[in-house]
Amino acid sequence: ARVAAVIGWPVSHSRSPRLHGTWLERHGIDGAYVPLAVRPEDAEAALRALPRLGFAGANVTVPHKETAFAVADILTERARRMGAVNTLVVQPDGRLLGDNTDGFGFLENLRQGCPAFDLPARPAVVLGAGGAARGVVAALLEAGCPEVRLLNRTEARAQALAQDLGGLVRVFPWTALPQALEGAGLLANATSLGMQGQPPLAVDLAGLDRSVLVTDLVYVPLETDLLARARANGNPVVDGLGMLLHQARPGFEAWFGVAPTVDEALRRAVL
Ligand code: ATR
Repeated sequence: ARVAAVIGWPVSHSRSPRLHGTWLERHGIDGAYVPLAVRPEDAEAALRALPRLGFAGANVTVPHKETAFAVADILTERARRMGAVNTLVVQPDGRLLGDNTDGFGFLENLRQGCPAFDLPARPAVVLGAGGAARGVVAALLEAGCPEVRLLNRTEARAQALAQDLGGLVRVFPWTALPQALEGAGLLANATSLGMQGQPPLAVDLAGLDRSVLVTDLVYVPLETDLLARARANGNPVVDGLGMLLHQARPGFEAWFGVAPTVDEALRRAVL
């Protein structure tokens, strides 16, 4: 049997075992996907041991994505650009290939959730400047977005991200959302605001053009306050659960040899 894992600290909250377990069952694959709680001080040794333990690979989650980047013997171009790895694939010769599929998951989620969305047509507005926002901004630029307008509570972090990712990123003050939304086609929340236990994202959506696609990386709750208000305004919305499901596809295919699909039944199984 082929075995893969999700490695994090903590890891008990991860939906990945249920997600991959559903796919394994669906495709009748003789395999397993297990959660491994690994302390930060043990992460490097644990990741390096994966080939010798016979693992096909692993997902790597918070706080180990940078360690996985450092440990990987080979990196995909998108992982190199992110400086973080969320998917490790053991190669036939035992080396570790590091990939980052977060941006892929974000884009695929938009494609499936809103097929009419024309990404290269208009600027995108992204809220946040942490690791999640970095993945979103990089993916949008790579997919041909003409301009990313970046807003973050701590503006210096947004400036640093813009500097890193090149000239098509424009930083707006945190309070200038209405101006940033002028002519935009997408609004994406990549902050932790709106997550269960966190304050809601208290941004002003007054005057939001009804054609703007609104998405949230937060998926607990599934319908965040932002998405509820956008929906009430008549905007198309795409929730964050799909990003989690789609980012998992490349790993599953590499480890178990079958390209899985994302559908409503899978969403229900994972929730
Ligand atoms: P991740 O890697 O998941 O992106 P992170 O690096 O901790 O996590 O980033 C969290 C994001 O949520 C940041 O953009 C953060 O803003 P700051 O850079 O100003 O910290 C944002 N965030 C968290 N709590 C916030 C709050 N109360 N108000 C505004 N933004 C907040």
